Amino acid sequence: MLDLEPINKDFGAYASGLDLSKSLSGRAVEEIEAALDLYSVLVWKNCPINDDQQVSLAENFGKIEVSLLSRVRGKGGPANKSLVPISNVSDEGQMLERDGRRLGSQIANQFWHSDSSFMKSVAKYSFLSARRIPKEGGDTEFADLRAAYDALSDDLKKIINGLIAEHHVFHSRIGLGLKYTSTEIAASPPSYWPLVRSHPITKRKVVFPPVHIRSIKGMTDPEARLLVSELIEHSTQKCFCFTHKWGKGDLVIWDNRMTLHRGKRYDLNESRIMRRITTMVS
Ligand code: OGA
Ligand code: MN
Repeated sequence: MLDLEPINKDFGAYASGLDLSKSLSGRAVEEIEAALDLYSVLVWKNCPINDDQQVSLAENFGKIEVSLLSRVRGKGGPANKSLVPISNVSDEGQMLERDGRRLGSQIANQFWHSDSSFMKSVAKYSFLSARRIPKEGGDTEFADLRAAYDALSDDLKKIINGLIAEHHVFHSRIGLGLKYTSTEIAASPPSYWPLVRSHPITKRKVVFPPVHIRSIKGMTDPEARLLVSELIEHSTQKCFCFTHKWGKGDLVIWDNRMTLHRGKRYDLNESRIMRRITTMVS
């Protein structure tokens, strides 16, 4: 049976009591989904899992997203292309080039974001497993977008309700100084999502300001980008957040519709190897 120990009152919980490396019963899957509806993030400490087990686990929760990285990466790395290597180590086992785009994209994970908000499909749950962690740093922080919405001023709620934001895969990376050609940018069409959404089951409203937002319909870019940075600043105040300090073998599952997350700095000379897989709302 699933055991839960809340981290914040109704945001984040330590989960245990089920063996995620084995096949799960329908009842266990429902228990995990219900816990995610309530807590948005579940932290499973010391829950070692291999690539195949991680894929099988995620498949219980919906269709698997094919990540953009999997379309461009070569041989090596996890055999299953839906597993995203979140790492400063290449698929061939070398440290990634310090000034390369691939490491730059990994560094972009240190911005507050929601996975794949630039894709046409809605990313639902991400499953992140720690295979090798650095001695220090490399924590992951999560922010509760439901509590953040509730705490917005009435004025700001009025301004953002009904607004549609444009999300683009390279927006945050360009902000970091990574270079993309206009052909590459044009080949990746943006996605559009409301700035305010609600939870499909609990109906709680959330504010949704990931760093991938490039523009907002009906606003100038300076107004839109200032609004997004104000909303990120608001939503990621300490009172809405918790930090997970990884242990080897930890696994964290989060709901991308209800949260923002970001990685924290670590020494890029030390290897950090994580694997992520993400399901979609069908
Ligand atoms: C991710 C991600 C942050 C981290 O896997 O999607 O953003 O701390 N990870 O590795
Ligand atoms: Mn992410």
